[in-house]
Amino acid sequence: MPQNASAVALKALTEWWEEMGVDVDQAEVKAALAAQDPLSPAQAETSKTQVEASAEPESRPRGNERRKRKAKSLEDWIAEAESLAASAQDLPALKAAIESFEGCPLKQLCEKTVVYDGTLGAPVMVLGEGPGGQEDRIGLPFVGKAGQLLDRMLAAIQLDRKTNAFISNVNYWRPPGNRNPEADELAVCRPFVDRMVDLAQPKLIFAMGGVAAKSLLDTKTGITRLRGKEHAFETPAGTRVPLIPMFHPAYLLRRAPDKSRAWRDLLLAQERLTEMGVEV
Ligand code: URA
Repeated sequence: MPQNASAVALKALTEWWEEMGVDVDQAEVKAALAAQDPLSPAQAETSKTQVEASAEPESRPRGNERRKRKAKSLEDWIAEAESLAASAQDLPALKAAIESFEGCPLKQLCEKTVVYDGTLGAPVMVLGEGPGGQEDRIGLPFVGKAGQLLDRMLAAIQLDRKTNAFISNVNYWRPPGNRNPEADELAVCRPFVDRMVDLAQPKLIFAMGGVAAKSLLDTKTGITRLRGKEHAFETPAGTRVPLIPMFHPAYLLRRAPDKSRAWRDLLLAQERLTEMGVEV
């Protein structure tokens, strides 16, 4: 990478760390820059001066949004998410509120905010872990290979996005390299997830995979032990919805033998919907 390109990348990275509340060690930044171009200390000196200057919020303000983000703690962002979520009176308004939210650092690393797809007011709400590459490009949840398997799983019990299923995630921005979302990233999304449940009033939630199930049920227990039974999900506003954890379709694509257990979970869901008088 040319020296100025690596300096720009390093500057972006250090800014992002700072926005995340990480103390950036400028000595390490200087050392990293010097290591990029050991034969040209003068050039390294120029670049590190730029990095130092850009790491100083007071010396180089870069617009209101950036300074605002820097000044806010995780708690502040969660409070802002709560306030935005509370002011949304329907699902399209909630979608717009999520799209306007700047409190998740993942947002700067991906293309689109991926909120929901499917039928508003559907009896079944499917919640996954977060967008992958395809979802990030298209802006809709579960549209890649895992999404196609999800559609087939839903179809097996007469559910589909066009009539009786609503699909979203516990995180709205694609994590780099498709890693799992971190606890802080999930925490800033959670007020929106809760409000989505309050507004949509589903009869049953499917939590797809360990990340979604553990986050929604606030537990460290893994998906293998959570699945196979019904759990209770409750929002801070008091909406109570039964929740059935299932293996994530991406996992089932890799572990076909577990499809039989996923089938049992789908049958359990179907049975519960019938008991609740939900026609599908
Ligand atoms: N996996 C998920 O959990 N959600 C998506 O939207 C896509 C893949």
